[in-house]
Amino acid sequence: MTAHASALFAPGLFKGRVVAVTGGGSGINLGIADTLASLGADVAICGRTASRLEAAAEKLRAHGGRVLPVVADVRDFGAQTAFLAEVEATFGPVSTLVCGAAGNFLAPAEKLSSNGFRTVIEIDLIGSFNSTRAAFDQLRQTRGNIVYVSAGQGFMPYAFQAHAGAAKAGIEQMMRNLALEWGPYGIRVNSVAPGPIADTEGLLRLANPAELERFVRAIPLQRLGEVGEIGQAVAFLASPLSAYITGTQIVCDGGQNLAGSGLLNHSVGKMLASAAATGEPSHG
Ligand code: HXC
Ligand code: NAP
Repeated sequence: MTAHASALFAPGLFKGRVVAVTGGGSGINLGIADTLASLGADVAICGRTASRLEAAAEKLRAHGGRVLPVVADVRDFGAQTAFLAEVEATFGPVSTLVCGAAGNFLAPAEKLSSNGFRTVIEIDLIGSFNSTRAAFDQLRQTRGNIVYVSAGQGFMPYAFQAHAGAAKAGIEQMMRNLALEWGPYGIRVNSVAPGPIADTEGLLRLANPAELERFVRAIPLQRLGEVGEIGQAVAFLASPLSAYITGTQIVCDGGQNLAGSGLLNHSVGKMLASAAATGEPSHG
């Protein structure tokens, strides 16, 4: 386990800063919220499930800061507007927006319905735009920043991921567009592309557990990542440590993309084929 961010960054680096994390109730996004809360930020999280958000907020409050959990679907612009308004009314204007809400499943493109494709685009890509647009006035006031949580799927094709790949590639290009347009307002816009992260829903849904060990051996750093390591990359991009960085993606994947997607495509393909043959549900 790598050292906690609170031992690596200056204590209180985010003191007095307001951070909003979409999809912050679980997994990587909760890890990001936890890192920023441990560095002194006031943190707001949103998602669709009240009980999950409450449990996450309880964990985040252990760092001693203020935490605001709000039920809000990123697909609903009105709900995102209300979320960001509540954040401002409670803590003051947002200085960092982290867009991490996402949905994903494995699906061969020829079996993926139009609505299945649309659903992932709506959560990941349109959802990220909705939160971003709703946060703009506050970010302009704070000369704040945005960090998108994307994925390797956005720059390298993975089998059974046409929907997620299109969504994450869209997020990456939107990130560069906004960095260009909003730089003059002092707003920085960047992204982090996590690789395979241990103990997350994404890994559970997208990897073949029977061949996970083999997959991990093909990662140059020879291990899965940890949620706190994505939190550290986000802390860097959200803080003055990266004051002159905008329009950039940090790939935080142990070098996994260097080995390509072939091994994963093959092992997941076998899993889907055997699920189809036995009628068992696949991990998607
Ligand atoms: C094919 C599927 C499917 C599956 C859903 N659909 N699951 N198609 N295979 N396994 C289709 C449905 O049939 C439907 O189309 C359409 O998608 C919408 O499904 P709903 O269940 O109505 O959608 P909704 O309730 O909005 O739920 C969204 C969801 C769900 C994405 C489908 O899985 C979800 O809520 N996920 C959130 C959590 C999550 O996915 N976390 C992982 C993020 S990881 P039809 O045509 O039937 O109407 C991640 C990792 C990236 O992004 C990279 C890692 C390396
Ligand atoms: P996760 O725990 O399922 O996180 C997704 C979060 O988004 C959940 O808390 C979910 O909560 C929320 N969410 C989903 N749909 C939403 C919606 N419509 N509106 C608001 N919130 C919504 O999965 P994860 O694996 O940690 O993934 C987190 C992020 O990392 C995602 O952006 C993912 O693409 C990215 N990523 C993950 C990996 C990995 O290895 N896990 C790798 C690369 C990239 P509710 O369901 O309660 O709404």
